[in-house]
Amino acid sequence: MFGTGSENRYESGDNMTNADKYRLLSEADPDELEKLAEKVNASPWRQHYHIQPPTGLLNDPNGFVYYNDRYHLFYQWHPFGPVHGMKYWYHVTSTDLVHWKDMGIGIEPGGQYDSHGAYSGSALAEDEKLYLFYTGNTRDEDWVRHPYQCLAVMDQEGHITKQDAPIIDAPPQGYTAHFRDPKVWKADDRYYAVLGAQRLNKTGCVLIYKSDDLHTWSFIGELKTSLADFGYMWECPDYFELGEKGVLLFCPQGLPAEENRFENIHQAGFLIGEPIDPEVPNFQHGSFMEMDRGFDFYASQTTLSPNGKRILIGWMGLPDTDYPTDMHGWAHCLTLPRELTIKDGILLQRPVKEVELLRKDKNTASHTVNNTKIQLEEIHGSSYELICELCMEGAAKAGISFRTGVTEETLLYYDAVSKYLVLDRTRSGAAMKNGNGSIRRYALDATKITLRLFVDQSSVEIFINDGEAVMTARIFPAKDSNGVAFFTEGGKATFNAVQWLYR
Ligand code: FRU
Repeated sequence: MFGTGSENRYESGDNMTNADKYRLLSEADPDELEKLAEKVNASPWRQHYHIQPPTGLLNDPNGFVYYNDRYHLFYQWHPFGPVHGMKYWYHVTSTDLVHWKDMGIGIEPGGQYDSHGAYSGSALAEDEKLYLFYTGNTRDEDWVRHPYQCLAVMDQEGHITKQDAPIIDAPPQGYTAHFRDPKVWKADDRYYAVLGAQRLNKTGCVLIYKSDDLHTWSFIGELKTSLADFGYMWECPDYFELGEKGVLLFCPQGLPAEENRFENIHQAGFLIGEPIDPEVPNFQHGSFMEMDRGFDFYASQTTLSPNGKRILIGWMGLPDTDYPTDMHGWAHCLTLPRELTIKDGILLQRPVKEVELLRKDKNTASHTVNNTKIQLEEIHGSSYELICELCMEGAAKAGISFRTGVTEETLLYYDAVSKYLVLDRTRSGAAMKNGNGSIRRYALDATKITLRLFVDQSSVEIFINDGEAVMTARIFPAKDSNGVAFFTEGGKATFNAVQWLYR
């Protein structure tokens, strides 16, 4: 039975049958979820200001939209433990993008067309209603997958009704059953959707559909890119225009790792190009760039704010990877929302301005450090924002050690010799079982670097030089590993830091 594994190892679900993984909430034992919630709430790694599941596993953000005076956000949720099984859409809302209200289950799977999960999708507000597009995952008795693209409609009172029949009942000819994650938008009085797909030759791509009424959809074709053979499946596509450009986000699976590139098990990234005509979908674009240069980032989705800002939220986790919280009965959280802009052809990502609403007490520290490490008295904690301006004044290496304890620390430093900004979680705390290495490097040639860190109980998001890159990592330190230190090797550097505690 589920949930009886040893406390000493991650409960990866390897010992669970499909019947265990694909149970509905209605099949839960009477006190099963309460017991699990007790275990989850005792976890020292529960986050303080990130969206996380009440129990079990969270993955992709879904249906991110502004509707009826607030943001609505859903996420993929498996209630019973840290495994990928039956997926629900869990619903939260916010008026400011940082304080979220728990609305409970949004879409419940288990029908004819979503018998094995309400998989990822998106939302579009129209005619005072909210249209929720998602992939109904089904498996037959031989465990063969058949995906349906489904529609549910939410009214102004928040009641969600699933439509009886799917809007797309099979992948088009030439593509496998890996066909999912509709992202819908409106252009010129028509509706369009991009979907993640796999060609019969086992390469990934994006397909485009159109509709005049949101109910009847027809296939336009494959979105032509220059990436004919780029991973075996593309998940969670998102297309939007930003400034004068067209941007395609997607998650290609199965790319081989390169030096300092594609080091996570699967990638989340984007192409920037000329805006597409979805009726003749031919995308002229630049090279594929990773959205995040850290460890734990996948399946991001964007929406437009009421004042036209493009906001992105990602899953702070990866598929096919065990995490230390598994043994506490839960896994993963979402990232902070980021505002996207394009400047000089570069995609900039900045935390939304509203994160400042989380700021409480302020501390500052300024030090010139010469070939040593100084533990800060002024700054410590486990949930905070830290902005640090780092001026290299001859040091070969200079950086910040945070969530520091007797034997633990997470390191973020600039290596002026190799010209990399390095994030090192080798000694952060409980180790990832299969984390694909514990160091990530971002190439940077600079003498003055601005680092903006958002540290929570078990994560860090690092915005570099006002959004030119972001490095995100889950870390699993002991509760009292709260120190912060500045260090340099081989010369001097000056650190000017401001910290805001977030609780
Ligand atoms: C991406 C993904 C999607 C799918 C969902 C299922 O993480 O695999 O392609 O819809 O998760 O939870």
